[in-house]
Amino acid sequence: MTKIIKHIITVTKLARIIDTSDACRRRHSYKVERYSLLICRRLKLPEQEIKVIKIASMLHDIGKIGIDLTIIKKPAKLTIEEWEQVKRHPEIGANIVSQLGFFGEVSDVIRHHHSRFTGGGYPDASLSGNRIPIGSRIIAVTDAFDAMISDRPYRKAMSKEAAVKELARCSGTQFDPCIVDAFLSVNK
Ligand SMILES: [Fe+2]
Repeated sequence: MTKIIKHIITVTKLARIIDTSDACRRRHSYKVERYSLLICRRLKLPEQEIKVIKIASMLHDIGKIGIDLTIIKKPAKLTIEEWEQVKRHPEIGANIVSQLGFFGEVSDVIRHHHSRFTGGGYPDASLSGNRIPIGSRIIAVTDAFDAMISDRPYRKAMSKEAAVKELARCSGTQFDPCIVDAFLSVNK
């Protein structure tokens, strides 16, 4: 079996474990990967970059296995201390993935999937614009979209139309406008 097929099987199993650890995720990793691939194809990214983004999309929240599950599943607003714990998941995830021996870029993409386009995200608030890996900018959009259209213990799902409006509202601030445009053009 080739190394890449072994990697894909491992990633698929890991993504399933991440999603079943929290009932409200309901195949979230898989759906983020599907949406991210649509954007990659629309932007005509090179195949090697698409492989990296595919794996990173499926494993973007793997760091949550390092966070107390009672915080992850809490059906209410988090305290400041709990939120600080949750904010550690991109770094924990990047460290896990780098030890699994995937391409180094996967770890970088996971580390920055909560970066804001104009800066101020986490873990590195000073990172902004095109200095954020393109895979992270793509996952920021697809992760937010799927989260918005999914039920959470503390709120009901938004309609697809409302989620699209929210992406458009945050385009150029939280999200890279080129990525939002690409997503909205393929997700009608
Ligand atoms: Fe995340």
